[in-house]
This record gives sequence, C-alpha cells and structure tokens, in this order.
Amino acid sequence: MERKKMRKRSWAEPYKIKMVELVHMTTREERQKALEKAGYNTFLLRSRDVYIDLLTDSGTSAMSDRQWAGLMMGDEAYAGSENFYHLEDTIRKIYGYKYIVPTHQGRGAEHILSKILIKPGDIIPGNMYFTTTRLHQELAGGTFVDIIIDEAHDAQNLHPFKGNVDLNKLQALIDKYGAKKIPYVAIATAVNMAGGQPISIENLRQVRELTKKYGIMIVHDMTRVAENAYFIQRREKGYQNTPIRDIVKEICSLTDAATMSGKKDALVNIGGFLALNSRKHYTEASNLVVVYEGLHTYGGLAGRDMEAMAIGIRESVDDDHIHARVGQVEYLGQQLIDHGVPLVQPIGGHGIFLDARRFLPQLPQTAFPAQTLAAELYLDSGVRSMERGIVSSGRNKETGDHNYPKLELVRLTIPRRVYTQAHMDVVAESVEDVFARRKEFKGLDMVYEPKYLRFFQARFKPL
Ligand code: F0G
Repeated sequence: MERKKMRKRSWAEPYKIKMVELVHMTTREERQKALEKAGYNTFLLRSRDVYIDLLTDSGTSAMSDRQWAGLMMGDEAYAGSENFYHLEDTIRKIYGYKYIVPTHQGRGAEHILSKILIKPGDIIPGNMYFTTTRLHQELAGGTFVDIIIDEAHDAQNLHPFKGNVDLNKLQALIDKYGAKKIPYVAIATAVNMAGGQPISIENLRQVRELTKKYGIMIVHDMTRVAENAYFIQRREKGYQNTPIRDIVKEICSLTDAATMSGKKDALVNIGGFLALNSRKHYTEASNLVVVYEGLHTYGGLAGRDMEAMAIGIRESVDDDHIHARVGQVEYLGQQLIDHGVPLVQPIGGHGIFLDARRFLPQLPQTAFPAQTLAAELYLDSGVRSMERGIVSSGRNKETGDHNYPKLELVRLTIPRRVYTQAHMDVVAESVEDVFARRKEFKGLDMVYEPKYLRFFQARFKPL
C-alpha cells in the first residue's frame, strides 16, 4: 500500500459495454411470493425474479467480443476439432500442464480424476473441502481430511494466506495412514469455502517438498488460480513486479495435475478440463472420458465452447483484468466493513462472505442462520446470494448427523465483467438495511432434504 500524499486517482474497468441485458425489477410482495414458492432456498428462485444475481460467479461471466467471435469459429467435427487443439495449446502455454481432457464442467473432471486415482479406503488431504470435489472423492471410496491452517476457519483472522496448508496436519496424516493410502493432496487456489482465500507460493513449495519425499501427487483445483495469483502479487514478498501470467504458471508448475471449472476464471458460461502431466494417467482419463462425457477431443463440449474457453483463459491472466475483477469485490467489501457488517476478512477474490454467526447471534446453527440471511436479503432488494454453512456442509457419512462447519456464511459472489459500481452500491445498502433489522429474524426449519448436495434443492419454512 502506498501512503504518499497524492490526490485520489480512481481506477475503472478495462472494458466498455457493447450490449446490455435488461433485468426485471420486483416489488417486495412479489419477492415474498417467489421466496415461498422457492422453499426459502435461493437456488430454487427463477432468475426472472432476481434483480442483482450474486448466487455464484460460475458460468455467469460476460464474455468478450473476441470470445463471442470465437463461437463463430466452432469446428463441430465429432473428432479432432480445431478448437480442441487451440485449447490444448493454450493450456500448455498458459498453465504448463502437458495433457488435457476437456469436460463439460469442473465436476466432470473431478469425477474422472477421482475414479482414476482413488481406491476404497484412501485418504485425501486438502486445503478445505469443496462440495462437488469431496462428493466425488467419497463416491470413489475415499475420505477427505481437511489440512488447511486453523486461521482459515476463523472469519475474523487477518492472515494474508488463509488458503495455506498446515504442514504438521499433513505430516500427521502421512504418519498415521502411510503414504500408500494417500493418492494425492488436493490443493485449491483461492479457496472457495474459506472465502476465496489464497495459498502462498512459499507454502505450496513446502507442500511440494513434503509430498515429493513420500511420492505423493498434488492435484490442483485451479478454478480460480488467477485470483490467487493476484493476492500473491499483492502480498507475497518478491512478487510485486511479477506479472499475473508468470505467477499462475509458477503455481501450476508446483503441482502434478489439475481440475478446472472454466466457468470461473476462464470467463465462459460452460466448460472445464482435466490437466495431467503423467502420460499413464492421461491415457486412463482419455479412455474414461468417453464413457461419461464424450470423445477425448470434446469431452461434452461443443467446439465453439472450447474456442471461447481458450480465448477466455488468455484474457483471465491479464493484469488489468484481474485487478479490476478483484478490485470490484474489494470495493463492495470495504463499504460493508465501513458499516460494521461482519464478514470474512481479508476480503477474498470472488465474493464477499457475510459472517452469519455474528450477523444473527440469536440463532443456533440448526436454525440455519446463513440460509435465513440469504432469504432476508433477497426479500429486501431482490439481491440473490447463497448459503455456505451448515446446509452446504451436508451430513457426516458415518453418524448421519449434520456436519457443523465453523464457518456459517452467506456468499455474495460477483460475476466477472457483469455488474457496475452502482450495482455494488445497491447491494451494500441492502445488506446494511438487513443488518439494521437483524434482531427480527427467527430462523428456518428444513422441510425437505435431498440425498446429494442438499443445499441445491432443500426446502425450508420460517420458524
Ligand atoms: N471447484 C471449485 C473450487 C468450485 O468453486 C467449483 C464450482 C467446482 C470445483 C465445480 O465446478 O461447477 O464447473 O462443476 N463452484 C460453483 C460455485 C458451483 O458456485 O462456487 P463446476
């Protein structure tokens, strides 16, 4: 941070708007009806009833004119599409992985990877779980164990790299189970469930050293790797003048394989891939993808989708792009902090995570404070957010009881290149109003619970 005496100089987005999508404004009465119909679950709202949609940054980005032009260059051959080779070449250049298998989205890659690498009884250590990732590990017979530093579970802790691995936790797992039971360590960049928190290069290097000693692979969930690189450039010693592109490549070079949801960093509405350095694993993956996704040169995507993703990947590692992207998230977060609204700090890369525990201290976790807060925010202004707490965390495989995560959060996820600063102001004002009325809220009861990933389809009633 520069503290020189200078006139304020604002920054603005490194793009201008060429086309707009009109949104639908609603009244409070209309939202009340819509919310009841949706069982108080923001995932079950119709998007036409939403004013500012901060449900997710997944598949919601605005593509550039170049990406749209790329769609017209789709080579829709069943096999050997030109767009596949462009994508493969891009991933090799930008990320440095050797082999790629396209998939329809991130979880398609997680599915195939888990099937190849995990045997029943295996342990998969990781820097915090992600919903789909952990489920695929479990479906393959593995057990996920969290090895993120304790600071990550504390919404108020200001550690600059809350995505870091606690090396003692990792070592203890290796000692307890033996390296043979640990097929890989799962490392996410810009850890979603921790609030978009980064891992440092220094920590990743240490994880690399330790895993190398035992012959354990590192699998990188690189869904938001460019956002992680931004924080490294901002916070890690020696990286202030390193371009985002180079930091991204360095991160990838410290890992052996990667799963990617192109719907985030890579600025597309659909797409993903599995990237591998081992020829043997690639051979297995390119065979398995035929069963679940499609031929290994399209993996469930149209040629045009692969083209848009190839172009999006290049745009995603541009310094100006990533500064504006995370800058907008920080702009919203700072307004809320100035108002005393409790949220996860430091502010993460892809959204603001309201701390529902401190927001609604009167509610026990079984009254679903984050789910309640997301519903109230929608009711107030038509802003759609998402629960990331006890509902998302699901149930314990053995006991059948809820998992009780320390973090009980509401995520205001910012789509890339979609909303303006004025939209952020509207969001901030609505959160502030809901905060002012926080004592009125009584919580929710879950009246329907689906078997898998319950947060998507569960239904609730007010208590
Ligand atoms: N890994 C991370 C870190 C993610 O955030 C996601 C998706 C996935 C994997 C799965 O990718 O959706 O393409 O199959 N996250 C979205 C979200 C759904 O809203 O955070 P996918």
